[in-house]
Amino acid sequence: MQVAVIGANGGIGRELVPRLADAGYDPIGVVRDESQFDAVRERGGEPRYGDLEGELAPALEGVDAVVFTAGSGGGTGWDKTLLIDLWGARRSIDACVDGDIDRYVMISAYNASEPLAEPEALAPYRVVKRCADDYLEQSALGATILRPTTLTDEEGTGRVSAAFEYHDDDGPDIPRADVAQTVVACLDDEATVGETIRLFGGDTPIEQAIHPCD
Ligand SMILES: NC(=O)c1ccc[n+]([C@@H]2O[C@H](COP(=O)([O-])OP(=O)(O)OC[C@H]3O[C@@H](n4cnc5c(N)ncnc54)[C@H](OP(=O)(O)O)[C@@H]3O)[C@@H](O)[C@H]2O)c1
Repeated sequence: MQVAVIGANGGIGRELVPRLADAGYDPIGVVRDESQFDAVRERGGEPRYGDLEGELAPALEGVDAVVFTAGSGGGTGWDKTLLIDLWGARRSIDACVDGDIDRYVMISAYNASEPLAEPEALAPYRVVKRCADDYLEQSALGATILRPTTLTDEEGTGRVSAAFEYHDDDGPDIPRADVAQTVVACLDDEATVGETIRLFGGDTPIEQAIHPCD
């Protein structure tokens, strides 16, 4: 099964590509700079050029699933938040619909559930992430939306805490490696299709934490 990772050169993306390969998937690393191709190959992925602000659909041709883990990052203005995190995400969803790709995992953000929550300075980012999530939910794609809290570069633990319902409580920060492993677990578990899952650091084995209760 070919899984395209949009944002393969990012923090979660770099953790995800080798984990997909180890789990028996064929990862396609979508990057916007061809100088990153060798690094994608070294991690076990097939590199493809794709730009959320430019040519994108050819990078997704023939794949079975897409993971969106790109982002404009904290060092850019709200213009890039709109163009990449919102419009780029929407364009990737449209490309899946047009290309008959019916599985999509979105890396959203934990307070996309409540965009106007504190801290106020991040509200525009959370609004954008929420709007991208809503667009995905309204599509016909088999979607899983993951809403992790603050990401760290700590080593993965294989354990998380997951919440299927919204509540005000935040939880411990979560290593990018554990978010990446959660993506693999979601692809492995069809029961996560249609679910929106908030993710924190925690003690529950990932496969158990993300499996919805009946
Ligand atoms: N930071 C947090 O605490 C936090 C918390 C919750 C959720 N999130 C979300 O988690 C996801 C991953 O975060 P991260 O920190 O691992 O990401 P990251 O390291 O910032 O990487 C983002 C990736 O997106 C790529 N990208 C940016 N613009 C692009 C474009 N126009 N076309 C194609 N690719 C593009 C970047 O490419 P280049 O390498 O070429 O720059 C980069 O590799 C993001 O969606 C973020 O919003 C973050």
